[in-house]
Amino acid sequence: MSVLSEHLIEEIRELPAKYPQPRSAVMPALDLAQEEAGYLTPEAMSEVAAALNLDPGYVEGVATFYTLFHLEPVGKHRFYVCTNLSCTLRGATDIVEHVKSAIGVHEAGELSKDGFFSYEEVECLGACEYAPVMRLDHRYEKDLTANKIDALIAERRSPTKAAVAHAPLPSPLPEGERAKPKPRARKPKSG
Ligand code: FES
Repeated sequence: MSVLSEHLIEEIRELPAKYPQPRSAVMPALDLAQEEAGYLTPEAMSEVAAALNLDPGYVEGVATFYTLFHLEPVGKHRFYVCTNLSCTLRGATDIVEHVKSAIGVHEAGELSKDGFFSYEEVECLGACEYAPVMRLDHRYEKDLTANKIDALIAERRSPTKAAVAHAPLPSPLPEGERAKPKPRARKPKSG
């Protein structure tokens, strides 16, 4: 039985036509798969590879290289807090600490007890003038304060408000100017 819905597989099959190099469709395809499945299981990656006619090893290589792809369960709502220079100068460290204590986790990637939340620290989101900034549910949240974070968490714990909060909004930057996803750190080879 498929992990991904038929509808999504169809959508992924149509992606390569939108790019000069069909292989470029792998990242948006993985993003769609992750959105639907919650995280990228080996089965989900194989289905993406089959839909794009790509080697499964290549697709897995992309998924494991970038931190924006999750290979293990993550929170339904994920805080991607920018900790690059401008945001750090404007309080990102305190913001991270507040997010951690508000959702009750100790480290990046850890799931909150209710499974609703997790957080990650990311490189520049390309919206430094609004620092400190984070992305939450495909939406940029800017000029962050502890109160703002508490309100965002409360919204997501309330089903009716969460439906509104989930509506995807554009990033403050045009597509071409957005920050590149951050590669996953490679472990040094032993021996
Ligand atoms: S440094 Fe945080 S958005 Fe650029």
